[in-house]
Amino acid sequence: MPPERARRLRKWHDDAYREMHDSLPRRIFHLGLELRVPEDVFPPAGDGSFHRLIRDEVRPSDRVLDMGTGSGIGALLAASRSSDVVAVDINPKAVAAAAANAVRNGVADRIRFLESDVFAAVDGRFDVILFDPPFRWFKARDLLELGTADENYRALTTFMTNAVSYLRPGGRILLHFGTSGDIDYLYQLIDAAAFKKEVLATEELTRERLSVTYYVFRLTR
Ligand SMILES: C[S@@+](CC[C@H](N)C(=O)[O-])C[C@H]1O[C@@H](n2cnc3c(N)ncnc32)[C@H](O)[C@@H]1O
Repeated sequence: MPPERARRLRKWHDDAYREMHDSLPRRIFHLGLELRVPEDVFPPAGDGSFHRLIRDEVRPSDRVLDMGTGSGIGALLAASRSSDVVAVDINPKAVAAAAANAVRNGVADRIRFLESDVFAAVDGRFDVILFDPPFRWFKARDLLELGTADENYRALTTFMTNAVSYLRPGGRILLHFGTSGDIDYLYQLIDAAAFKKEVLATEELTRERLSVTYYVFRLTR
């Protein structure tokens, strides 16, 4: 990536982090769910395409993994379709908030919550894996920033390198990513893991003359 774009993305990242930090704690009504998002936990963001597509993708017979569950929104939406959902996050405050949100929305008996660094605590295989990863390659300064920063893309690389071992035959990954991260690096990881990618949705955003595109991909083998 050209150094000037990297410099502008750093500023974009810092501004977005400050806004997110100042907006918490929050009570959110979104897609029919009531979510309480405490300090230290990533709140649902974007135009909602990724989250809406989860409900379209998940079938009642699917076993679903929500990687990096944050407030639990993806797991809760998946649990509106499937009764076999596992939701994990490296941030223990996110795991606790997501579990409380599941109780609040009446789906706690359909989701198992675990603290996990990517797949470290995950067992078994899944029909659908959801992941809205941190987009930037910077070092996170605190638990909240783990939602947007993944130093040198360690988590993204671990996820893309190992995901195939956690998918059942015919399994699908719904992945959210944007050009506010290094999307060329993501494409290299997708190719190296021999996944086919389809674009299910795009969203354009311009802020301070920096334009970014967000994508929802479906990855299959
Ligand atoms: C962009 S947020 C997405 C949250 C939620 N899935 C959503 O759609 O709103 C990324 C999430 O990934 C989690 N995360 C970051 N690194 C992780 C890792 N190594 N293992 C598991 N989760 C991680 C963060 O704590 C955060 O909750």
